Amino acid sequence: MSERRIGIIVNGATGRMGTTQHMANLLAIAREGGLPLRNGDRLVPDLLLVGRDAERLGALAAAHGNQRWTVDLAEALAGPDSIFMDCAATGDRPTRVRQAIAAGKHIHIEKPTAPTVAEAMELARLAQAAGVKHGVIQDKLFLPGFGKLLFVRNSGFLGRILSIRIEAGSWIFDGTVQEGQRPSWNYKKGEGGGLALDMMAHWRYMVDRLAAPITDVCAAMATAIPERVDEAGQRYTVDVEDTSHALLRLEGGGVGVITNSWATRIRREDTMLVQIDGVLGSAVASRQRCFTQAAVNTPEAFHGGGRPGGMDFMAQWQEVPETLPVKNPFRQCWEAFLRHVAEDAPYVPTLVEGAKAVQLADMAYRSVAERRWVSLPTLAL
Ligand SMILES: NC(=O)c1ccc[n+]([C@@H]2O[C@H](COP(=O)([O-])OP(=O)(O)OC[C@H]3O[C@@H](n4cnc5c(N)ncnc54)[C@H](O)[C@@H]3O)[C@@H](O)[C@H]2O)c1
Repeated sequence: MSERRIGIIVNGATGRMGTTQHMANLLAIAREGGLPLRNGDRLVPDLLLVGRDAERLGALAAAHGNQRWTVDLAEALAGPDSIFMDCAATGDRPTRVRQAIAAGKHIHIEKPTAPTVAEAMELARLAQAAGVKHGVIQDKLFLPGFGKLLFVRNSGFLGRILSIRIEAGSWIFDGTVQEGQRPSWNYKKGEGGGLALDMMAHWRYMVDRLAAPITDVCAAMATAIPERVDEAGQRYTVDVEDTSHALLRLEGGGVGVITNSWATRIRREDTMLVQIDGVLGSAVASRQRCFTQAAVNTPEAFHGGGRPGGMDFMAQWQEVPETLPVKNPFRQCWEAFLRHVAEDAPYVPTLVEGAKAVQLADMAYRSVAERRWVSLPTLAL
């Protein structure tokens, strides 16, 4: 049994995801003595933090046990570290990933992997041809509620799946009287913004695995708040959608609907809610909890045209208990990818899966532009 160090470049370390998810979970693995591998070795992450602001980066590195850091991405890529994580703002990610592939690094990046499906597939092919391992962050099915929903679905409880409904979003302040909770790049096309590009990256793998693979999309989008105020107090024009509604057709005949907005106020259990209806039962999950209703427990909601008074529809569902260990979703993504690199363990969300996620957004944009249903052709390397 020995300790093996693995060098990981975290590009965008001072960002929200960079600090709170990627750096934090990798350091937690290191603090615990490394990730145990099948042969008894322990894999210890050794981070190189990369960003653009030397002062903030230096302070971050010092506050977390004097991690290595640099503001020079080219220098980081020229070094011996083996994995490149890009969790900087979405814009220009393909350029950075191309550089990292050319430098022979294994690629593990945030979603969306690219602005278009063509570019996302180009990255997948480049990584494959270079013989490096590649993956994209797909964290949502590791959240307790959606993990339970996947468990319910895979148990066969739902029977033939008829439909999936996703309701998601919240109110993002426009920065005038209250600071926006999302960075301004989310609202600028040139910087990788747009709600559909950002969130379809999650909905694709969630629908594909929780219900059935998506075959077609028809979308309507809007810019609810056309002007906002950025982090520096400057007004700017929003040139992307902040609201996206999509209808889906699924393999096997099921249908789906995604209602997603950064300009909606929450009157539901959580920021994300997913309901799947099947012939034998239904299940509804938030990020934390999951409830089911079996066909034999389904009450009659209407009696002969009259609405029954005082019926508590919420009470008619049964909660799925905690059966799976609760572990940070990003930590689970990292552990799986590290095993993929270190011992060739299987890894589902490769850059091809990342491209499929981008494809849903890309085809939804096409649907809006051409005002029609658009099919999602099969993607392969
Ligand atoms: N998996 C998830 O659930 C999830 C959730 C939120 C965000 N994300 C993704 O993570 C990424 C970062 O999002 P965030 O919310 O942490 O954003 P953020 O704005 O908090 O952080 C982004 C970081 O990138 C830096 N940056 C901005 N433009 C850059 C450029 N051109 N080159 C290099 N660095 C640049 C910023 O200075 C900042 O440090 C995005 O791609 C986003 O889609 C994923």
